[in-house]
Amino acid sequence: MNVPMPGGGGQRGKFYTNEKARFNPRLFRKLIRFALPYWKMLLLALLLMGLFTAADIYRPLLEGQAIDAFMEGVSEGTLPMQVARNGLMQLVGLYALMVLAQFVLSYCRTMTLRSTGQRIIRDIRSAVFRKVQRLPLSFFDKHPAGVVVTRIVNDPDALNELFTTVVLGMFQNIIVLMAVTFAIFRTDVSMALCLMAAMPLIALATIVFRLKARVIFLEIRNRLAHINAFLDEHISGMGVIKAFHMEKSKIDEFRNVNKAYYKANMRNVVVMGIFRPFIDCVRYLALALLLWYGGIRTLGGAASIGMLYMFIKYMGMFFHPLMELAEEFNTLQSSMAAGEKINAILEEDEEVDPADPVPVARPLTGRIEFDHVWFAYEGENWVLRDVSFVIEPGQSAAFVGATGAGKTSIISLLCGFYEYQKGRILIDGVEIKSMSKKDYRRHIGLVLQDVFLMAGDIATNIRMWNERVSDERVREIARYVQADSFIDKLPGGYDHVLRSGGGTLSSGERQLISFARALTQDPEILVMDEATANIDTNTELLIQEALLRLQQNRTTIAVAHRLSTIKNADRIFVIHKGRIRESGSHDELMEHRGLYYHLVQLQYNGASEQGQQT
Ligand code: UTP
Ligand code: MG
Repeated sequence: MNVPMPGGGGQRGKFYTNEKARFNPRLFRKLIRFALPYWKMLLLALLLMGLFTAADIYRPLLEGQAIDAFMEGVSEGTLPMQVARNGLMQLVGLYALMVLAQFVLSYCRTMTLRSTGQRIIRDIRSAVFRKVQRLPLSFFDKHPAGVVVTRIVNDPDALNELFTTVVLGMFQNIIVLMAVTFAIFRTDVSMALCLMAAMPLIALATIVFRLKARVIFLEIRNRLAHINAFLDEHISGMGVIKAFHMEKSKIDEFRNVNKAYYKANMRNVVVMGIFRPFIDCVRYLALALLLWYGGIRTLGGAASIGMLYMFIKYMGMFFHPLMELAEEFNTLQSSMAAGEKINAILEEDEEVDPADPVPVARPLTGRIEFDHVWFAYEGENWVLRDVSFVIEPGQSAAFVGATGAGKTSIISLLCGFYEYQKGRILIDGVEIKSMSKKDYRRHIGLVLQDVFLMAGDIATNIRMWNERVSDERVREIARYVQADSFIDKLPGGYDHVLRSGGGTLSSGERQLISFARALTQDPEILVMDEATANIDTNTELLIQEALLRLQQNRTTIAVAHRLSTIKNADRIFVIHKGRIRESGSHDELMEHRGLYYHLVQLQYNGASEQGQQT
């Protein structure tokens, strides 16, 4: 697949930039379904939160009462033991009990919330991966692997915050605010108003902070995506960078990308750096006001010292949730952005399979027909134009033509990797659109030029995790495609463990494994796209022999630039600019003296000239 380089192409908007981090109720309703299975747990967490908060609110009241009880005792000159008997002891006991209860509640709440959160993350991650598995290949043409990885690994974490931290956190903070407000107004209205005097300033600061933070936050996300994309591209393209001595310029380029990210983060640091101290400043000013006014009232006998103490305590409890709310809004925005991206993937069109698929005959006879097929990867950029041909069961067909003519596209359509726009493609007389892709792909063995090997040992890579293929059979097939000689030389032989991609094997070796892989399926249709391009002539000759035997009971399609390899095909199709220009056997086409004839001449002359030069 051609993975477009990050930075170019503007296809991936919604996965990449243009983040809308606003709260979006429609999106929220969609995302909430990840939390719904755990509503009981979340409700429990909420209940625990409520109890914890109630205890929190009640504590300053007890503290105030205790102080007053003590002060009373002191002013009346009562002995300490008597004060204790007068109820202070009970207060302290109740207080200790409550602290203990809060400890237990806090533990239970954290556990409930965190474990639910982890479950939600796990579910989202699975859902996104499941979805990614069902997406058509065209999706991966447009979205770099690095970005898809971010969607599966990082974004669920951010989204989880939405349910656990943000929604429940906001709920808790609002409850605390309401409870504290209620408690202070019930105790003393004028002192409560004094405390509230700071509110307008705080509200203003919070609004300004929110607006600023939102802009900066978007900037940070975008810059981060740039860094990720840059790294993704430059780590996978390390070979090219080294070969073209681009290290220095790339380091400079990265410095710029990095600097932009740093600057965005610094802006955040500055805003946060102002916001918190500002709120603190307002809070202490309000405290000063309270001390002054409360002091006057206490001295005048309208309030007690315990009450003043309680108010000071409540003031702390009032400001804390305010600050948290501001930050929760911030997190809300980031998790909404993550949610939006996850949702965008979840809403991508899947590979279309008919609702009521026609069952695929077993075995297939392997008749392939293209009936006036038109195809474009995008819009009206036709890559295939009115392509029609029939390959009869057991026939071998070959496609030749210039680079970019459309040969691979024909194969991709046959395998159902892309949807064609006009015409029909039929296998055994049934249009592939009416069959389940998974079902009929089973009958097609595919060997490509670029072979991807999975992490695992050689034998597993050949049998492709199909336990029904015995070790014996794996070895037999490997011998058949001439792969045994190099496999035997590997440390561990068939048990040699490959890393993902199989990068430690040569391209030719990977192709041989790919051949073996295709044959273990014993497919009725064998498709080879430049399958022997990386294999030396000697090995290729050996494979050709094996292939001839293989072709006897299956339909084969081969694409090759080296014309010598397809000379024996029953039918050769010459593709030119997306159209079939000629077809026939090698001899017929040579006689025809058209495009094919010229191609052969070119290759033949080129080869003989090269021979003369050496
Ligand atoms: P093909 O990939 O079908 O050409 O692309 P080909 O005949 O097999 O070429 P070689 O011999 O392997 O080099 C046909 C056209 O489709 C475009 C290509 O740019 C080319 O012009 N294309 C291919 C896309 O637009 N998107 C793709 O994902 C793949
Ligand atoms: Mg090709």
